[in-house]
Amino acid sequence: MIFWRVKSLDAILATAEKKSLHRSLGVWQLTLLGVGAIIGTGIFVLTAEAAQKAGPGMMIAFVIAGFVCAVAALCYSELSSMVPVSGSAYTYSYAVLGELIAWMVGWALILEYSVAAGAVAVGWSGYFVGLLNNASLGFEIPYVLANGPFAGGIINLPAVVICLLVVGLLIIGTRESAMFNAILVAVKIIALTAFIALALPATDMNHFDPFLPLGTSGVVAAAASIFFAYVGFDAVSTAAEETKDPQRNLPIALISSLLLCTLFYLLVSAGVIGAVGAQPLVDAAGEGLAPGSREMAAQCKSLAAAGQQPVVCSHEALAHVLREIGWEKIGNLLGLAAFLALPSVILMMLFGQTRIFFVMSRDGLLPEVLSRIHPRFKTPYIVTLVTGVGVMAAAAFLPVGKLANISNSGTLFAFLVVALTVMILRVRDKNRPRPFRTPMIWLVGPLAIGGCLILFLFLPMDAKLVFPVWTGIGLIFYFLYGYRRSHVLLGIDTPSGGENLIEPIRSLADGSDETEVKVK
Ligand code: ALA
Repeated sequence: MIFWRVKSLDAILATAEKKSLHRSLGVWQLTLLGVGAIIGTGIFVLTAEAAQKAGPGMMIAFVIAGFVCAVAALCYSELSSMVPVSGSAYTYSYAVLGELIAWMVGWALILEYSVAAGAVAVGWSGYFVGLLNNASLGFEIPYVLANGPFAGGIINLPAVVICLLVVGLLIIGTRESAMFNAILVAVKIIALTAFIALALPATDMNHFDPFLPLGTSGVVAAAASIFFAYVGFDAVSTAAEETKDPQRNLPIALISSLLLCTLFYLLVSAGVIGAVGAQPLVDAAGEGLAPGSREMAAQCKSLAAAGQQPVVCSHEALAHVLREIGWEKIGNLLGLAAFLALPSVILMMLFGQTRIFFVMSRDGLLPEVLSRIHPRFKTPYIVTLVTGVGVMAAAAFLPVGKLANISNSGTLFAFLVVALTVMILRVRDKNRPRPFRTPMIWLVGPLAIGGCLILFLFLPMDAKLVFPVWTGIGLIFYFLYGYRRSHVLLGIDTPSGGENLIEPIRSLADGSDETEVKVK
């Protein structure tokens, strides 16, 4: 029986009730929170990757990925309004599917958060290097020090440095305030709006032909990768407890932030295709080259030597397009916007990761040393450092697309389990109050599960393989450690969800500059 050691939902809720946050968030603040967490490397960088996989058909890929996220978001909302505690999918599954599945979800969330932080860091590095090169400062970072081995370099130093800075900020307890988040959202929205306004009028309809150069499978493969561009919306659902009238506001905010982002993504991708074309590079047999592969890097290098730089080769796709169509300065300003805004996405991801680790360690499933709090800064510094070292290593050597795909594999698994959990609870615990009920759950739930499965299957083989290997390592670790030390097994009363141990990420939205981990 795999569904053993189920945590009591009532006990979790009892802990949550003691805390009871002030319900202050309305639709606007929530939507802003969502957009702030969503827009990042996905659109600023991975658009080039989506183009390489689907050509102009990447527009459809954005819609597919947005749809899968929307149905998953509706499932997330039901659980987070019912079980409004931190720990997200890990905590929900502990209460419904038991410890083993919860462990697997928590372990998969490491991929979601840590690897995503690495991906965003590499994306940031691309813009940073582009800015430096275009600023004519007479100083350039050597190629081999700004790219990992897959792109023909040695190490991505800027990505390592930005991770180091963000880890340092997290250790001393830096958090974004609602105001800071709003400013960064505005910066991103202005940058994307400027892009659309300048790129769309330069459209040449011939660039849309052929629309599906690598067929429909290329489109679904692009959707599986570009899914990354939507990750982060769960920040909205985890704010359930602080939301005024969550039944109404939560789904509106979730769906509107996803819709807003989808609309922007569609217009941006149309701008890229229309302005400069987005046809993939192919090998001698006419097959699309794999983004992030050595073959692709080599072909990009030889094209660059011949004076051509197609958008699929660019590490700073949007800035590159603007420069190509003559808006050099605005291209640099867009690069500056990405340079300023992307680190906050890294911060959010790393913060989410430390929170999950923290909760798992307080449940006895990870060594307790991880939840040790710094005496002065009152932050979980050991878990932050450990996470930081892992993220830095990933960002140093792997390309952005590979990292995003690996992160997607873990996220898709977590979303799938969340949808399953909602459906199981509908049957098993019909009468429990649900501040938000997913509409048409018997349609939305299976759509979310099916969508996640399909996207997973269309991920590149290496990302698909990393997931089972990672899960296998996790299971070995669980049976060697957590299985025997689980607080549920030992009857130790752990504050469920850990929400009274660590300030949840949602305080981002409430205007507080609260920086410390709260230890009771
Ligand atoms: N959605 C976030 C990004 O694109 C993770 O950077």
